[in-house]
Order: sequence, then structure tokens, then C-alpha cells
Amino acid sequence: MEYTVKSGNPEKQRIACVVIPVYASRKLSLSAKIIDKASDGFISNLVRRGEIEGDLGNTLLLHNVENTLCDRVLLIGCGKEKDIDVKTFYKINQIMVKTLQSSGATETASYLTEIQVKHKDINWKIQHSIEAIDETLYQFDQLKTEKKEARRPLRKFIFSVNGRGQLMQGEQAVRQGMAISAGIHMAKDLGNMPPNICTPSYLANQALTLSKQHSKIKTSVLEEKDMEKLGMGSLLSVSKGSREPAKLITMEYMAGDKQQAPIIFVGKGVTFDSGGVSLKPGAAMDEMKYDMCGAASVIGVMNTIAELQLAINVIGIVPTVENMPDGLATRPGDIVTSMSGQTIEVLNTDAEGRLILCDALTYAEKFNPDVVIDIATLTGACIVALGAHPAGLLSNHNPLANDLLSAGQTSGDRCWQLPLWDDYQEQLDSNFADIANIGGKGAGTITAACFLSRFTKKYHWAHLDIAGVAWKSGSDKGSTGRPVGLLTQYVLDRLEAAK
Ligand code: BES
Ligand code: MN
Ligand code: ZN
Repeated sequence: MEYTVKSGNPEKQRIACVVIPVYASRKLSLSAKIIDKASDGFISNLVRRGEIEGDLGNTLLLHNVENTLCDRVLLIGCGKEKDIDVKTFYKINQIMVKTLQSSGATETASYLTEIQVKHKDINWKIQHSIEAIDETLYQFDQLKTEKKEARRPLRKFIFSVNGRGQLMQGEQAVRQGMAISAGIHMAKDLGNMPPNICTPSYLANQALTLSKQHSKIKTSVLEEKDMEKLGMGSLLSVSKGSREPAKLITMEYMAGDKQQAPIIFVGKGVTFDSGGVSLKPGAAMDEMKYDMCGAASVIGVMNTIAELQLAINVIGIVPTVENMPDGLATRPGDIVTSMSGQTIEVLNTDAEGRLILCDALTYAEKFNPDVVIDIATLTGACIVALGAHPAGLLSNHNPLANDLLSAGQTSGDRCWQLPLWDDYQEQLDSNFADIANIGGKGAGTITAACFLSRFTKKYHWAHLDIAGVAWKSGSDKGSTGRPVGLLTQYVLDRLEAAK
């Protein structure tokens, strides 16, 4: 999709369609008033006759409106003007795209940017329009032999800005929106890719491809024998039952100051989680292909950061394995030794995410990180606690947690903090090893984070449990690309704070 910005009145746009907001109780927006005036009250007449109320979801497509240079004017009901929040703004964009798709217009000038969204500026509105449009148009049809082609596909969106003074910042917002959207797109594709294709080797190849596209990203891949040498007995115990070899991927993007300690993202990359010998029940087991969505978000965000050429040091680390049962698989009761030296009693082979993350978190120490943030579809309990709206957030450093909470608010890709209190640690006591890999009944998301906290004592660390937000189930089953938006915003906020 092509995106640009432009200033100027709506009736002067020589284009297939101009999109204009109308608010509830038949209230005209500024651009609607301008078109109304140019067309001798055509819009206000229609509104008076009740052709459109302005409620959220109302649309009215008009052709050949007098004294306009566009072929069509699409009026979109936005609901009460004062009530428009992040979610509503997203919905309005979605309605725009769906209506345009069946209209035949391929190029559009959107005046939805004049809508007031609580606490958000024009940059935010442009950036989020792009994310919403791309999200609405996304489909994963690479593996369908017949693709649903739109009759006349949308090709171009022009966002209206307020005067020439806003053009530069508008263009910057377009660049940012497109880069974030590309990262989200990439994360979605990786997530949706079936597990017979998207294996640990596939993820490694994707990360290597990324470093070919962006010279600033340096990718390296550790093989099982390398990990054995490093003593990653915990990570390796998970892939033992699989024919697919484990990989540990590192993507270094060091475009900041040499002295500046890097931000490290660690993404869980279980390309299929059968549960192992502690086999999962059959229902919806296919969805465990999404157990690499943490990894996908890390690869996606590295792409976004490189695309934006941000002057910062960021490292992405992806431990990736397939969790399968077979004769060589780890058994419940096995005790393994992690890279940190701590021994772990594997009481449930389905609590595998923490087993691969702990070694990756120890490995991260060697980069002397400023902060480490891991992203993982770690616990079903997180879905029970928080549902599908925020990711779970746990941290050993409150300023870092606050930065992530705030980046979530800004981006709309939210997280919510749970307590990482020492009180929960004893649930991980083992009779035979230093620590057990499950914490029993109660607070499953917290005990999983407690497990990880044993391996993150040397730096500031936060954990995002994305089990509830990484993909949707049901008829619109598919990866969401979250939390690429949140992570990018966190990095952008860090850059802003360093100014
Ligand atoms: N990948 C799962 C967590 C998961 C389950 C995410 C369902 C999204 C939907 C993870 O590896 C897992 O199996 N966790 C177990 C932990 C338990 C054995 C302590 C869980 O949540 O049941
Ligand atoms: Mn599991
Ligand atoms: Zn898992």
C-alpha cells in the first residue's frame, strides 16, 4: 500500500474517493462542513433527511457531489465526537477500509485524521490509521492455491494534515506507521505459518534473511553442539524428543553509541508445543503452532527498528525448539542442569517455555544489557487472569515496568502488571533439585515468572506473557502481531527520553 500526506481542502482533491467523518446526532465534522458549503448544502440536506445519523458504523457513499473534484465522498459515522478513543478510532478506519473495498475506489484521501482522539496527536492518528488499514487488509493466503483477489484492490491512501506546517511531521508519521506495520505483518506471517514449515531452522533462516536485507543487523545462530558446550542443558532438554534441531538465534542491531548498553529482547520460539510426554489434550492443539509468537515479535521488532534506522543498540535473542514426545524425550522427573548451573526438576514437560528461556536469559548476560525483556506465550493461566486484552507484565525493576505500561498506553498494545513477590517463590521448591519447573495450583503466570527471575538477577528484567494476546481463536483465527507495537513504542520512548 502506498501512503502519503497532503494538506488542502477536501473538495479540491482530484481522487477516486474522499473519506469524511460525521458525528452522532447528525453533527458535521469540519471537512463535512467544507464539502457541504461547496456543494450548496448537499450534505446537510442529506443529514437532515436522516440518510446518515453519524452513529458509529453508519456509512453513506455519494457519487458526483457537486463542486468537488473527487469521484466519490464516503461519509463515515464516528459516534459521539467526545467519546472517540483508541479503539473507536481503529474501528472507524476498519469500517472505512471495508466500505472502500466494495466500492471500486482504489485511491483515497482520508480526512479521518481530523477526528479528536483523546490525548493523541496527528502523528499518532496517521501511524495508527496505517496500522488499522494494514490489519484490516491482512490475509495469510500463501498456502491457498486459489487466492481471494479484490475486484479493484485499494492502492493508495492520502492522509489529510492541517496545513503545510504539518507535512514534514506527517511524513515522519507515515514512515513510522509503515515500519511498525511491516514488523507486525512479519510477526503475523511467522505466527500463522504452519509448524511443518515454521521449524526452528526456518526461524533461523528468517533471521539470517533479515540481516541480508538490513546490513546493520548481524545474525548468528548457535547449533545444538554449541549450546552443549555452553552448558544449556535446560534448553536442550526440550528439543530432545524432536527430530528438529534446536537453535539459538542472536540478532544484533548496534546503531547507537558504542558505550551504550543494549536493550535485549528475548522471544520464546517453540515452533510447536505438543506438551511433550506431558502431552496436551487434542482440542485446539493446532494452535500450539503459535507458541513461537514471542520469537516472531522479536524478529518483527528488529525489522521495524532497522527499517527506521534508529540510533540505538538492540539485541534480539530467540531460543527456538519443537516440543515433542518420543523415545528420547525428556520425562517428568528428569533433572537437568541449566547454563547458570542451577539444577531443574522437570515435573511437567509442558512447562517447556521457561526451560528454554532460562538458558537464553543466562546467555544474555554476556552482552552486558541495560535491560532484558522477554516475550513469551508462557502460561494458559495468563489467559484466565487477563483474557485477550493486555499482556501480563512482571518485572524485577519497577521503572522498567512503568516504561512498558506507558508504552502500552501510547501504542494501544497494552500490558498489565502482576506481582512478582517473593511469597510465591516457595511454590517452586523441589525435593531433588534446586528448583522445580512448575509451581502447582494457583498463580501460574506469577510462578512461571518467578522461575525466570532465578536467572535474571544480574540485570533489570521484565517478562511479557503474551499467551492471551498473540493470536485469535475461532472463525478469525490468526496471529495478531502483538506485541510489536508495544516493543517499538518502548524503544521510541527510550530514544525520546535520551534526547
Ligand atoms: N505454550 C503453553 C502456554 C499456553 C497454553 C499458551 C495455551 C496459550 C494457550 C505453555 O508451554 C504451557 O503449556 N504452559 C502450561 C504450564 C503448566 C504445565 C504449568 C500451561 O499453561 O498449562
Ligand atoms: Mn507447554
Ligand atoms: Zn509452550
